Amino acid sequence: MVPVLSTERLTLRGLTREDTDAVLRVFADPEMSRFFQADFSDPARCREMIDRRLSYDGPPELGHWVLEQEGEVIGLAHLRPSWELPGNVTELGYFIEPRHGGKGVATEAVARLLDYGLVELGVPAVWALIRDANVSSVKLAQRLGFLDVGSEIHYGAEHRVHVKLPDTHGKVHHIELWVPDLAEAEASFGWLLGELGWREFQRWSAGVSWKHGSTYLVVEQSPAMTAREHQRCHPGLNHLALHVATPRQVDRLVEESGAHGWKPLFADRYPHAGGDQHYAAYLENAHGFEVELVATPPGPHSNG
Ligand SMILES: CC(C)(COP(=O)(O)OP(=O)(O)OC[C@H]1O[C@@H](n2cnc3c(N)ncnc32)[C@H](O)[C@@H]1OP(=O)(O)O)[C@@H](O)C(=O)NCCC(=O)NCCS
Repeated sequence: MVPVLSTERLTLRGLTREDTDAVLRVFADPEMSRFFQADFSDPARCREMIDRRLSYDGPPELGHWVLEQEGEVIGLAHLRPSWELPGNVTELGYFIEPRHGGKGVATEAVARLLDYGLVELGVPAVWALIRDANVSSVKLAQRLGFLDVGSEIHYGAEHRVHVKLPDTHGKVHHIELWVPDLAEAEASFGWLLGELGWREFQRWSAGVSWKHGSTYLVVEQSPAMTAREHQRCHPGLNHLALHVATPRQVDRLVEESGAHGWKPLFADRYPHAGGDQHYAAYLENAHGFEVELVATPPGPHSNG
């Protein structure tokens, strides 16, 4: 079941069978269905639609919500794997009873779902298919920063394809590591980051940085440095953990890492030193910097 999500005026909670009457009321005005293949003001069609939603069996963190204001159901929304768009992408939909329109509550609900999907779950993008003539929906999508990336036939009619990507607000901008030996750091980090798709970004006499998306990592042999060795068990950075697409790629990086200045940590427990569900490698370079290469989604564990 999807989690309960709150906004200033609304509670979004999982749709249940008990919501049937309320949902029939939300869709009672035929105007609501103007842009859909079926007219959900017909109770039989609406019940079919509710049944379809209740039989959702996709990932449990995604699915169907009702929108409640002061205990009353005033709308529906979903965030679920798309069956219209290729590539197992996440599709959003939203529906507000007409008498609650024009007050910003739909916008408020959708903003919360976007935050949930893009920030809390970390889905790479949220997609919405909107008929050109559905002006209020197009405006809502624009208001929330969706990009219009073209037009295609979906649900039996021409739809604009809208996508919302995560923004960089609050994400890591850059990480700066001070290193005792720039050449060694460049050999170890430069190789590893290059393998993971980072690209050289800046270079100057005392440092070099690599960029991946909106984040960059700097290694610098600063003249202001006060020690010659990094102590990962002292206060400060313990390790840097990086996503790796597949377990196979973690294996390959481990095999090749020795030639690039890394030695394995916790090798006797590879690849599950961080827990049974956690496929990861722990590596340390010559100056005591540790990296963790993680093939699984981040979990509450992770030692090292
Ligand atoms: C699509 C739909 C959810 C949009 O509803 P909506 O009423 O336009 O959305 P909101 O409640 O967020 O209202 C936005 C309007 O309220 C105004 N508003 C008032 N207070 C606001 C606030 N606090 N925050 C944001 N907007 C506010 C906005 O200015 C905007 O007005 P505008 O459209 O004249 O610019 C609704 O029309 C609907 O359910 N349609 C039928 C189902 C449907 O087509 N779903 C979409 C399928 S793709």
